[in-house]
Amino acid sequence: MSMAIIKRLLVGAFLVCTAVVAAAGERMTPGIATAHPLATAAGMEILDQGGNAFDAAVAVSAVLAVVEPYSSGLGGGGFWLLHRASDGFQTMVDGREKAPLAATADMYLDENGEVIPGLSIDGALAAGIPGEPAALVHIAKHYGKLPLKATLAPAIHLAETGFPADDIYLKMAGFREQAIKASAAASEIFLPGGKMPRLGALITQPDLAQTLRLIAEKGRAGFYEGETARKLIAAVTQAGGIWQDKDLREYAIVERQPVRGTYRGTRITTAALPSSGGIVLVEILNQLEAYDLSAMNEAGQLHHIVEAMRRAYRDRAEYLGDSDFVEVPQTMLLDKRYAAGLRQSIHPDKATPSAMLAPTVRETSQGRHTTHFSIIDSEGNRVAATLSINYPFGSGFVAAGTGVLLNDEMDDFAARPGTPNVYGLVSARANAIEPGKRMLSSMTPTFLENKQRIGIIGTPGGSRIITMVLLATLAFDQDASAAEIVAMPRFHHQYLPDAIQLEPGSIDATTKKELEAMGHKLQQMENSYGNMQVVIFDRSSQKTDAASDPRGIGKAVVGAEK
Ligand code: GLY
Repeated sequence: MSMAIIKRLLVGAFLVCTAVVAAAGERMTPGIATAHPLATAAGMEILDQGGNAFDAAVAVSAVLAVVEPYSSGLGGGGFWLLHRASDGFQTMVDGREKAPLAATADMYLDENGEVIPGLSIDGALAAGIPGEPAALVHIAKHYGKLPLKATLAPAIHLAETGFPADDIYLKMAGFREQAIKASAAASEIFLPGGKMPRLGALITQPDLAQTLRLIAEKGRAGFYEGETARKLIAAVTQAGGIWQDKDLREYAIVERQPVRGTYRGTRITTAALPSSGGIVLVEILNQLEAYDLSAMNEAGQLHHIVEAMRRAYRDRAEYLGDSDFVEVPQTMLLDKRYAAGLRQSIHPDKATPSAMLAPTVRETSQGRHTTHFSIIDSEGNRVAATLSINYPFGSGFVAAGTGVLLNDEMDDFAARPGTPNVYGLVSARANAIEPGKRMLSSMTPTFLENKQRIGIIGTPGGSRIITMVLLATLAFDQDASAAEIVAMPRFHHQYLPDAIQLEPGSIDATTKKELEAMGHKLQQMENSYGNMQVVIFDRSSQKTDAASDPRGIGKAVVGAEK
């Protein structure tokens, strides 16, 4: 691939500061990039105490649950991609939420079979059974060195003493004010006195501190059994939800084999089902690999990338769902020969109308939600984790007495096959609601490795997560730095709507004209999207490089462990 697009994107990029520090001796210099400075500080503190990357990941996840309540939390779930340096073992801890056992395929439909607006988004009925508490306990027990009492301590402290409301908090709370106000316990915490807090006002969460303390003392029983479980079930039931004791008692994380692929000598290790992210990412890269993108101008490069996105997102809609419940033709979708077949239908200079392909996806939302962090420690252990409660502030519902804000991840199922969710994504039967099933995700925590470098990458952004990670992979292949990768302007196509969504400044007027002449519809977006966190280790210089997306308030730190 020529540097045309990458160079253009880098020229238009946001300014971002990063630290690059040489590693001492054989050991790697640790690096952490997260969406919030307090989470990055907690992760570094745990490394300083002798913890490894997995301990730091527990601390970072728990702090994000406190200080980024609009993105992730104990009431949500996520995927933690782990690399253990001592033996090269890699796994994905799947802490995705599950549909309650009383869930039914038509639970969000009215008597005419129409989707009831808001029912899978706001309030207790929208919430899947949370997986994050079980995942943190599992990671600490099987991979960490420190007790939960140590790794959860920073989160407990911040929940008790408070964190200052920042711009993003205020924006997201404003966006979800109605849903938050519908829950007395949520309103009390996030809109103290029934009002939007001032910038910098402290948000305290004493009940959440107590729930975290119970997890630190009792492990998973501190959440899924006993006092916390009783309060969760009582609150959800009172609010019209369908959780039962059994849902909580039986919730279990799953360790899954990550999806693997290669692109021009870069090894990709990424999210497995029930995230669509890994399969779609590798399917796009497989289509692109055979092109000599370097021989094309910018419009040609963008055209081919978009056509590959279009075809992979079509397959997402048709085939993907929880592989514990449905047959997914994963081997076929990841096969380079299958990609070669898709490539046959890509015209070199004409857009393929999405209507000529199959199932469907509509307009995406721009909500900021979900969070990602990347960590490497001095031994080379790595974590890429993307966590979510889905929409900003999840369902807006807090279970009284627990401080736990519940997700609205049930909206990631196909409430009715063919009807779009909040991200405009539509799926088929493979992603229909079934009791105990995990809803399809787009979260794409990813490791990239070539001869020169190791990258730890991911971002929030709903349906656009996968294409952001794709562009990051193409830039990584071109030796872009962590700062360059997080700052690149972005573009996205998800099959339907049949339009290329362009972040402000992503391409110039000439390229736009050339793309339109090929038949592409362009949708210029008013706002930026994503909040990428990247850590890169350079094998030959032995330097660690980390950067946090300038679109957010996050922080990347590279430093020595004690
Ligand atoms: N809730 C967003 C995702 O999992 O993709």
